[in-house]
Amino acid sequence: MTKPLPAALSPTRLQALAAEYGTPLWVYDAATIRDRAASLKRFDVVRFAQKACSNVHILRLLREAGVKVDSVSRGEILRALAAGYTPGGDDIVFTADLLDHATLATVVEHRIPVNAGSIDMLDQLGAASPGHAVWLRINPGFGHGHSHKTNTGGEHSKHGIWHADLGAALAAVRRHGLQLVGLHMHIGSGVDYAHLAQVGQAMVGLVRETVAAGHDLHAISAGGGLSIPYREGDARIDVAHYFGLWDAARREAETVVGHALTLELEPGRYLVAESAVLLAEVRAVKNAGANRFVLVDAGFNELMRPAMYGAFHAMSLISTGSAEGGLQATVVAGPLCESGDVFTQGPGGEVLTRELPPAVVGDLLVIHDAGAYGASMSSNYNSRPLAAEVLVDGERSRLIRRRQTVEELLALEV
Ligand code: LLP
Repeated sequence: MTKPLPAALSPTRLQALAAEYGTPLWVYDAATIRDRAASLKRFDVVRFAQKACSNVHILRLLREAGVKVDSVSRGEILRALAAGYTPGGDDIVFTADLLDHATLATVVEHRIPVNAGSIDMLDQLGAASPGHAVWLRINPGFGHGHSHKTNTGGEHSKHGIWHADLGAALAAVRRHGLQLVGLHMHIGSGVDYAHLAQVGQAMVGLVRETVAAGHDLHAISAGGGLSIPYREGDARIDVAHYFGLWDAARREAETVVGHALTLELEPGRYLVAESAVLLAEVRAVKNAGANRFVLVDAGFNELMRPAMYGAFHAMSLISTGSAEGGLQATVVAGPLCESGDVFTQGPGGEVLTRELPPAVVGDLLVIHDAGAYGASMSSNYNSRPLAAEVLVDGERSRLIRRRQTVEELLALEV
């Protein structure tokens, strides 16, 4: 049994939305996002890693649910401001491993705290804006992820300040009179409890070193990385247990600094993945030797995760009622002129099949758990305009991004 979709995304509702707005179409459920935000209330600050889903209406919804925001580019800072987050305080934090010129000017102008992933960033920020608020993102020397592409720790990772360079980073903070807010770690996406416990302990060690170097700090961040059950049988993260691990690390760190510390969490996927589906229409059905292909009008330019990581997304079919018969081993693929444009594939790009009811042209394919790293990773490959996005909120639904046009693509090329 595939995990049920959010109650508001019933087959008849999805069919009606596809008819109204066309396909491919992203459909988000507001109630799911609010529910996930509420489930993390134990943490002092929940900061949404907006790279997972940066639509301004989703950001606004999260802001109204009490969630702060992380931005990783100038564009994401401007999106956060457009969603009503206030500059200057701790609403928005900018996290990166480098500062390009335009972004440096933007963080200075809007006084956005910077979570620095390199000492060069501290030097550049310090020169431009002495006294600026900073976090230090530390690479603790180990990491973990659902794919090696989402592991952000260890010596093969470009992310964060290497743990042995913490002293040098603290010296740069002092040299420039920067204001240290806290220490941050994000070791990857799709991590397990063993690694999570290890991160908490590593954090305590870093806090010790920071205090020994004569610095004070106010907060620690556990980063993101919480997974969701994409596959049948995948466990759902036990938030109370996870909080307990970090709370214990925080308490220990508090005895080191001698005062209370704010505990932040920075999830992306956990807050939004299960809120959305990608709808696509079946446009062709054909066989190639032993394989049965169902071709739909969405491709990896919409949802890149299967092609990029071999990621698994549950799928269901809303049938028009004309096909008969039991489940069939089916390869689900898109329209792109690229062999890797297959939604059913493994991490090495091997073509896999999925058991689906027999599909005919006109049926609607529903790709589940597409709210995180779906629309935000879309591209215009094959000159395909970005798909529309719809937000369902109870009985109401509204377009939160209209479909891009080819004319808009061409307009950039004058
Ligand atoms: N904080 C930092 C500094 C990050 O780099 C990320 C994700 C997060 C938080 C949020 O991670 P999450 O809670 O969503 O796992 N495109 C990949 C995921 C790449 C994540 C990049 N950084 C995917 O589709 O699985």
